[in-house]
This record gives sequence, structure tokens and C-alpha cells, in this order.
Amino acid sequence: MMDQKLHGSEAERLFSGRFAALPTDCGQVCEPGTDEVEAWRDWTDRPTTEDQVRIENVLADLVRPSSRILHVGVGNSGLARRFARPGRTIIGTTISTAELAHGNSLNLPGYAVHALNKYGDTSPPGPAEFDFIVDNNPTAFGCCRTHLLQMLDHYQSRLARDGLILTDRKGLGWVTSAPGANPRWAFSVEDWAQVGGLFGLRIEQLSDTVVALAPPGGRVLRGPLLRRLASRLRQRLAG
Ligand SMILES: C[S@@+](CC[C@H](N)C(=O)[O-])C[C@H]1O[C@@H](n2cnc3c(N)ncnc32)[C@H](O)[C@@H]1O
Repeated sequence: MMDQKLHGSEAERLFSGRFAALPTDCGQVCEPGTDEVEAWRDWTDRPTTEDQVRIENVLADLVRPSSRILHVGVGNSGLARRFARPGRTIIGTTISTAELAHGNSLNLPGYAVHALNKYGDTSPPGPAEFDFIVDNNPTAFGCCRTHLLQMLDHYQSRLARDGLILTDRKGLGWVTSAPGANPRWAFSVEDWAQVGGLFGLRIEQLSDTVVALAPPGGRVLRGPLLRRLASRLRQRLAG
């Protein structure tokens, strides 16, 4: 099945057309997608990015007491500091040893950070299914089609039936300043939708900039989003 998604005719058509500037296979087995400057790997002491904040603001309206969240690229662990509580599970992943040590040193309930390359062949640890997978830079550190699709295969296979893969237009369109970084890793929302489509996922716009990939027949998002807009309107009228 995975082979079909990686090399099937739909993937071939998409990658030979829309994504022709991306390499097919970087040939790396151990650490794909890490060929970038050190400065982008360790975000422990840097402020949460604005796109990550926007995703968390949307998540705040959707999260439930027992939600299972996978946070890919934990940075300063701000997501866990904001959402961790008894009954919730938050699994964080990173390639930075400093982020790993910092996240686990917080001793937040239900929060554990693991060293894991998202483009690698190991599925993330934690529960069989996640309600939310948060990755604000899913393509920014990309190396090749094989590893991008491998990452999405892991995400999709671990997503609950009404789960959401959350990202933001800005982080999606961001690429590192590493010498030789391929600018085509800056994805548009439509690019992301097309790749998600290979896995049977549909795109949902959750705010001006936050989007989700969701399984067909997943949750209806209009309810929470309408409530959010109504509450904002009430705040504005009251203020
Ligand atoms: C620019 S920082 C963003 C941190 C945080 N998400 C935020 O927006 O504030 C990029 C994050 O992605 C992680 N990262 C980079 N390449 C990765 C890879 N191949 N697999 C997993 N995480 C990766 C880095 O360790 C870091 O946590």
C-alpha cells in the first residue's frame, strides 16, 4: 500500500508535474531531512513562532480533556506548557538533543518528548491514534519525495478517524536559509492539499491561515469554528 502511495501513478503524475523540482529520493537511510543549518534545529530558547501560536489558538477551541496530541518539532515545548494536563497525552518529537532534554525536564503531566526524525522510517511513539498532529513546518526541512510521503504515511496511519493534521500557511511556505535549500519545499496550501489527497485526506481551512488535513467523513469543524467566531464577536462587542 505504501509503495503504491510512493510510486503509484497518481504520485508519479503529481511529482513529475507540480513537484518536478523536488528530488525523488535523497538516498539517505538514517537521517533524511537534516541537511540544514544548526540554528534551525534547536529552538529551546527561542520564542514560539507566530504560525505555531496560530495553530495553538485554533487547537485551544478543539482540544478535549482526553485528547491525544502529537507535536512534531517541539521547539521550546510551549504547546505542552499550554495544553498538558492529567488525562491528556502529548507526545513531542524533535531532532534536537537540547529540545529533548528541556521538554522532558518540565515534567508536565502526560507529556513526553522523543528523539525522532519525522522523515525517517520509524512511526512516532505513543498511542495508536492521535486526535491532533501538529506540525507547523511539515516540508521546510524536506529532502525528497520518498521521505515526505513516508512522513505523511506515518501521520495518516496514526490519525484517529476524526483526527486532524494541523499546520499553518506561513510555516508551510517557509524554507530554511541553509545553503542549497530547495525553494520548492515552500508549499502552498494547494500543494499540501494535493499531497494529502494521495493519502485520501481532504483539506479544511480552520482560520485565515491555519489548515488541517482530515480523513474523509471526519469531524465537522463548522461547529467549533462558528463558536469561536461568535465568542470573538461577543468579546469585541463587550470591549
Ligand atoms: C523552526 S523550529 C520550530 C519549533 C516550534 N514548532 C515553533 O514553531 O515554535 C523547527 C523544529 O523542527 C524540528 N525539526 C527540524 N527537522 C526535523 C526533522 N527532520 N524531524 C523532526 N523534527 C525536525 C527542530 O528540532 C525544531 O524543533
